[in-house]
Amino acid sequence: MRVPFVDLKAQYHAIQPAIDAAIASVIKDTAFIKGKYVKAFEQAFAEAYGVAHCLGVGNGTDAIYIALKALGIGAGDEVITVANSWISTSETITQAGATPVFVDIDPDTYTIDAGQITAKISPRTKAVIPVHLYGQPAEIDQIAAICRAQGLHLIEDCAQAHFVTYGGRRVGTFGDIATFSFYPGKNLGAYGDAGAIITQNEELAARMRMFANHGALKKHQHQIEGINSRLDGLQAAILSAKLPHIHDWNRQRYEHARRYNQLLAGVEGVEIPVIRREHEHIFHLYVIRSGRREALRAFLAEQGIETAVHYPTALPLLPAYHYLGVSRDDIPVAAAYQDQILSLPMFPELSREQQDYVVEKIRSFMGAS
Ligand SMILES: Cc1ncc(COP(=O)(O)O)c(C=O)c1O
Repeated sequence: MRVPFVDLKAQYHAIQPAIDAAIASVIKDTAFIKGKYVKAFEQAFAEAYGVAHCLGVGNGTDAIYIALKALGIGAGDEVITVANSWISTSETITQAGATPVFVDIDPDTYTIDAGQITAKISPRTKAVIPVHLYGQPAEIDQIAAICRAQGLHLIEDCAQAHFVTYGGRRVGTFGDIATFSFYPGKNLGAYGDAGAIITQNEELAARMRMFANHGALKKHQHQIEGINSRLDGLQAAILSAKLPHIHDWNRQRYEHARRYNQLLAGVEGVEIPVIRREHEHIFHLYVIRSGRREALRAFLAEQGIETAVHYPTALPLLPAYHYLGVSRDDIPVAAAYQDQILSLPMFPELSREQQDYVVEKIRSFMGAS
């Protein structure tokens, strides 16, 4: 048996008529840039999220950069973020001219350790960017309270967390701005690069729309210099066709994760992810830990099972950040986990047979019966 890490074809086949029709109508209307399909998706996403403004942009990385620029963050500023994430979260801080300040992860949720944020705040700190990693909300209540008390901006990186709730409230609605990626493998994925930004703040929304469109809200009226970061019509139409399915897909991922947890519970040498009772988890990724990660990964590959590592090097330990002088001792949890974490196949269409096969192979590798 072969078990892919994700199976985008299975999802396409399940909704093929709607996707094909969406693509055909954009082409028929030649509405490739801006236009009604982008507008319709922005409205639908804002409505589904229950927020006032949504802006479609080129990708989830641009979304963070645009948010930072709109908040006026730049040279001399510091922005606090998490040691384990995709590099977009921190490279955009540098692109804006500011310096990333990394905080270790919580050993249970693998998201930013909220209890360590305050100690990292300096007179130069302007914002905090937590990441709702793997589809698991960070302790966003506590983080929002710190930001309020200290007068810091809060940008939520929701690239892996579309529509997940924390204490019954959607992540992405706690901060000033939330950013999304619709990279194809995300819980809500486009058929190419795409991203979005949401906010309740009208002024920020206008500033971001302007910056993302060459500094102009009206053609040729450039108030500032900006960038070109647009959601294109084809991606918008595809996303609109997929949006009604997101809750089902999130639920299916959660059910798969619960089943993985049940089947892997008690297997010696495997740490399963924590599912908190009071908060949702939508399992963009299902991540276990093993002290024999590399050998396990190689064994699973031999058995036809694709896995991945998110991420093999904690951000501050990457060569790109050596200049910051962060050592493993400064981020002990992220440093230890980077050698243990392993993402197992996870996608809504994962079959019971595929899942049983993955579990059986892990159990046999670990010597469990
Ligand atoms: C946590 C996180 N932030 C930001 C991004 C950037 O998104 P994109 O790839 O759409 O630029 C991603 C996804 O790649 C991500 O996982």
